[in-house]
Amino acid sequence: MLQEQDIKNVKETAFVFKEYGREIGERFYETLFEQHPELHNFFNEANQKRGIQQRALMDSVYKAGIHIDELESLGPMITHVAEKHRALGVQPEHYEVVGTILLQTVRDVLGTNVTGDVLESWGKAYASIAALFIEAERQSYEQVAEARGGWTGNRAFYVTNRVQETAEVISLYMKPVDHEPLPPFLPGQYVTLEMEIDEASNVHKRHYSLSKVSDENEFRITIQHEPGAVSSHIHNNIVKGSQLQLAAPAGAFSVVNAERPVVFISEGIGLTPLVSMLQSQIANSQAVTWIHATKSCDTHILKEEIESILFESEQATKHISIQKRLLKMLSRLYMKVRLILVGLGT
Ligand code: HEM
Repeated sequence: MLQEQDIKNVKETAFVFKEYGREIGERFYETLFEQHPELHNFFNEANQKRGIQQRALMDSVYKAGIHIDELESLGPMITHVAEKHRALGVQPEHYEVVGTILLQTVRDVLGTNVTGDVLESWGKAYASIAALFIEAERQSYEQVAEARGGWTGNRAFYVTNRVQETAEVISLYMKPVDHEPLPPFLPGQYVTLEMEIDEASNVHKRHYSLSKVSDENEFRITIQHEPGAVSSHIHNNIVKGSQLQLAAPAGAFSVVNAERPVVFISEGIGLTPLVSMLQSQIANSQAVTWIHATKSCDTHILKEEIESILFESEQATKHISIQKRLLKMLSRLYMKVRLILVGLGT
């Protein structure tokens, strides 16, 4: 249980995860994989190499530290991360492993600069934060298990169709091998694909947005060819009839205030989670403005489908497809106007 002195200790020292975040993050993952090589199966190697996970973990620990006496204010962050953890299969027992190694790393990096009582306070703080994640994840596991057509763990799917959208992008249409219905998902959610590329390496897990509105028979994901091993494997080897293992839809990226007009802004492959949101807004007779930046007409994924959704609807107010450069100019202009308005006290 956190005492007043623990809260003080944690708030006063949270900055450490910002200032030494890179060092702690790198050392943390090194130790984690050394002591628990099986955990490689959960983590995206490309994100590791780019330092994305290290930063994400350190940022969230820092934020939790400065808000340790009002953890409820972190609700949206916890929901977002808990959804991702559930999609990856993170379990309560993993938290003890992560907590022990995190504290050990802080002690190793800071040496005599950190006192025993501060570490003890962080131990208690970590336990409080972990308890919130574990509870959010428990609810999420329960929800997907109980939903009509829902499941936990992986479910086998086969590819019913593969469509080449552009030179770099494909869509995969997938149905469950058991032919049972699929659960409804929220516009903007993703599925997590688990695959073995070769027997010697780890299992790979990747999240892909569901790129068309909820349908109880079929999912669609739309994947860009990236330099990484997983997207190359999918582009080169996954064809009609291939089998894939998927975790149930997850994710907390959705339209807020869906009853009000919505402006969707995307660039390139970033439009995939927005397509189901657009379809859902229009089905609910809401006004939408769609702004999409793309290098050229040839690289505009799902162009015809989006145009037909927009133009066949009376509620769609605008459809603007612009080049990336123009989008950058517009955002710079927007920032300038905002600065002027802020300067004028508006
Ligand atoms: C209180 C402890 C934890 C915190 C604060 C935390 C925080 C985070 C954050 C902020 C992300 C990034 C979410 C995003 O992609 O937007 C993340 C992702 C992730 N977390 Fe945790 N996490 C914790 C515990 C754990 C545990 C116990 C595991 C289990 C091994 C775990 C495994 C993962 C994995 C595999 C990812 C996805 C990384 C990737 O592949 O990109 N986390 N976590």
